[in-house]
Amino acid sequence: MSVKVILGTQWGDEGKGKIVDLLSEQADIVARYQGGANAGHTIVISGTKYVLHLIPSGILHPEVHCVIGNGVVIDPLALMEEITMLEGMGINIDGRLHISHKAHLIMPYHKMLDAAREKQQGSIGTTGRGIGPAYFDKALRIGIRIVDLLDRNALRDKLRLNIEEKSQLLQKIYGSAPLIVDELIDEYMAFDSKIDPYITDTTSLLNNALKDGKSVIAEGAQGALLDLDHGTYPFVTSSNPTSGGACTGLGIPPTSITSVLGVVKAYSTRVGNGPFPTELHDADGELLRSEGHEFGATTGRSRRCGWLDIPALKYSCMVNGVSEIALTKLDVLGAFSELKICTEYEVDGKNVKHFPADVHTLERVKCKYISMQGWNSDIVSVKSFKDLPQQAQNYIMKIQDLLEVKINLISTSPARADTFAI
Ligand code: GDP
Ligand code: IMO
Ligand code: MG
Repeated sequence: MSVKVILGTQWGDEGKGKIVDLLSEQADIVARYQGGANAGHTIVISGTKYVLHLIPSGILHPEVHCVIGNGVVIDPLALMEEITMLEGMGINIDGRLHISHKAHLIMPYHKMLDAAREKQQGSIGTTGRGIGPAYFDKALRIGIRIVDLLDRNALRDKLRLNIEEKSQLLQKIYGSAPLIVDELIDEYMAFDSKIDPYITDTTSLLNNALKDGKSVIAEGAQGALLDLDHGTYPFVTSSNPTSGGACTGLGIPPTSITSVLGVVKAYSTRVGNGPFPTELHDADGELLRSEGHEFGATTGRSRRCGWLDIPALKYSCMVNGVSEIALTKLDVLGAFSELKICTEYEVDGKNVKHFPADVHTLERVKCKYISMQGWNSDIVSVKSFKDLPQQAQNYIMKIQDLLEVKINLISTSPARADTFAI
């Protein structure tokens, strides 16, 4: 029995999809525990690119079962699109995809509310996928769950109340057109029969699998610094990508977790608004963006780029209990002759001991950097640590020393094959 949580340690897009896909080879089940179609997890196999938003990144392994846990918020439209996309690419998901009957549904009004809020001052820069409003309804105890699809009359009543309330909100506060209740109800009723074959009690499925000695990967979406409780609030997502979220989002006990693999991108990126201490607004930032193809897998937005941020990563390793690291996109740094790593924050000339909880302080921190020699060469074809240029080895070892967590895996391209253990 084992549960390996694989999660993002930064602001998302660390390359979780690639690492989960790679390690799925040794897993029986891969389970997503939070977030929704705001995620975009990219996997590249033999030149074919797959971008997954809701379906776990183990789905490309024919023997692996995939779970969408209770902590995920599911947009049925996005889910159907993804299933169709996978089937079109020859991936058979029948009997392998299991969706929690306790997961909440994203409704069209959630996306409308998300878009309307984003037009207000101080916007978060969300993905517009209705994530915040769906979790809001969940916390308010008025959300529609997958299980509600099974009782048509109760669903109709619940939906009607929700739609009437949201329609008023959208009209009064955001000046939107009213929602047509019956149209929406009919549309959602239709999802019932399509999703039905996949719906099950995933909590029992997972716990029984663990009892039978199976190995599970819990796949995080977003990243620790976007966590609702531990991230750079309010510029965060509305769920818990940190390791604790795996337990609540899947219904598995904390004692079942055997390791926490933190995916660390060799530099930093952030998409959307909010503090970003090491952000670069110069040619180096541009070079990171162009070399790393730093454009969002979900929205296509350009990602903000900067140097690696050790204070943020130390905090992330602490909060998640990271026991091993996969370092991704090391190849991107091959374009630089000099690399920088932020090792400390200062505010008003004083060293900051803890990762600041408030964004105003985080926006004011001054980063102290160490400089390292770059390797200025292409490392994509390198297949072992000892064959890496000395400067690249130094960069990896420096990060390992600073974080005091073992780096176990190095990734040097989007492809499954370009990864090696150290
Ligand atoms: P995720 O959300 O954490 O799964 O990451 P994304 O898929 O949103 O973004 C990571 C991007 O980097 C994708 O386009 C991946 O194909 C790509 N990628 C992953 N690992 C590497 C790597 O080691 N090198 C390079 N150059 N690209 C990578
Ligand atoms: P993956 O799983 C990067 C960001 C959005 C925004 C904030 C809140 O691919 O790493 P939301 O739509 O969740 O309410 O937006 O979170 N965000 C992500 N950034 N990668 C993601 O997912 C993200 N999911 C949400 O840009 O700043
Ligand atoms: Mg992504």
